[in-house]
Amino acid sequence: MHNDKFYSTKAKNMESSKIREISKIISKRDIISLAGGMPSPDTFPIKIVSDLSSQLLKEKGSEALQYGTTTGYRELRGKVAEKLNENFDTSVDGENVLITSGAQQALYLIGKVFVERNDEVVVEAPTYASILQILQELEADVKDVKLKEDGFAVEEFEKYLENGGNPKLSYFVPTFQNPSGITTSGKKRRKLVQLADENDFLVVEDDPYHQLRYSGDNIPPIYSIDDQNRTIYVGTLSKLLAPGLRVGWIVARREFIDKLQLAKQPVDLCTNVFSQHLAYRYLKEDIIDRQIEKIKGLYKDKRDHMLDALRKFLPKGVDWTSPEGGMFIWLSLPEVIDTEEMFQEALDDGVAYVPGAVFYGNSPKKNTMRLNFTFVEEEDITEGVRRLGRLIESKVDGS
Ligand SMILES: Cc1ncc(COP(=O)(O)O)c(C=O)c1O
Repeated sequence: MHNDKFYSTKAKNMESSKIREISKIISKRDIISLAGGMPSPDTFPIKIVSDLSSQLLKEKGSEALQYGTTTGYRELRGKVAEKLNENFDTSVDGENVLITSGAQQALYLIGKVFVERNDEVVVEAPTYASILQILQELEADVKDVKLKEDGFAVEEFEKYLENGGNPKLSYFVPTFQNPSGITTSGKKRRKLVQLADENDFLVVEDDPYHQLRYSGDNIPPIYSIDDQNRTIYVGTLSKLLAPGLRVGWIVARREFIDKLQLAKQPVDLCTNVFSQHLAYRYLKEDIIDRQIEKIKGLYKDKRDHMLDALRKFLPKGVDWTSPEGGMFIWLSLPEVIDTEEMFQEALDDGVAYVPGAVFYGNSPKKNTMRLNFTFVEEEDITEGVRRLGRLIESKVDGS
């Protein structure tokens, strides 16, 4: 039997995410992984989840185990709105919130509702790899705008617009970006809102790391400074509670939420109801605030540890970002090095990273890589970076 005959054209064109492939290889070997984007399991509040679960089953078991509405558990929607208003001085209502199975589903639904074949979509270069997978499936025309130390290159974006660029949507991770760790300045956020107004396109703000700030001052989300309400905000509990629970959300104007929930109905009927009830209790009792403080303490030390190791072990000619929060550091190596080509050697040396090319819509910069500092223990961060430094040095010397 020839399987191919049965596949849709879409299925034939599907490609596996490189990061998922890398994770598969690494999980089978004894390798220090600075590659994945996973939280430290030390941050998972297992006892809290266990207590909340028993309480929940006792008090609302039959509701928590039943199907729910597609838009999400009403109390949770209200709580998410309340927390946003508290943190960012917005005036969001529960009706503006759609609960999703993580931020990833939120992005997929946004793609489904707003992007048609050949639609221009602006992303940062580099950008979150999984948005590229979605846009590729939708056959969007991806336009990438270079990312500088303080956010997207404004002149490049303006030039693209002046030359007839006609984006329908733009996608930004403005705070502690995955993969670069870069935060877009307040000035550039205002500029983006202005460009979106003048050129009538939507802004998707993907914001999973906002509350994981270890230094510097808070910069309000784009959503909170957008008077025209053309920003669609995506949030998640993956990094503030546990990714396995799969609770995320979209915040947007009511009409968009209505459309998005229509797109969601055939996908899953509803997000995991048990997880939503747990999430509600986690937010309601403000357990999240104490938990965020703990996570920040742990990750700040890990970030500092990785920055120290980079300073100590990496040869001249290598640059890296110094993120004020989040989970990632971005490295730019001398141009003679192709990090995809070097990847197998790094694995043989017992260390893994993500080659930077996977984070580009167009024209990948092959001399870049993403490192994660949250997942492994501090000794392994040091050892992993030491091995990387040695490998990079041998490449520079050998060139
Ligand atoms: C920028 C960005 N968006 C979305 C996601 C997906 O998050 P979730 O686990 O909530 O689906 C991630 C996860 O790493 C991410 O970094």
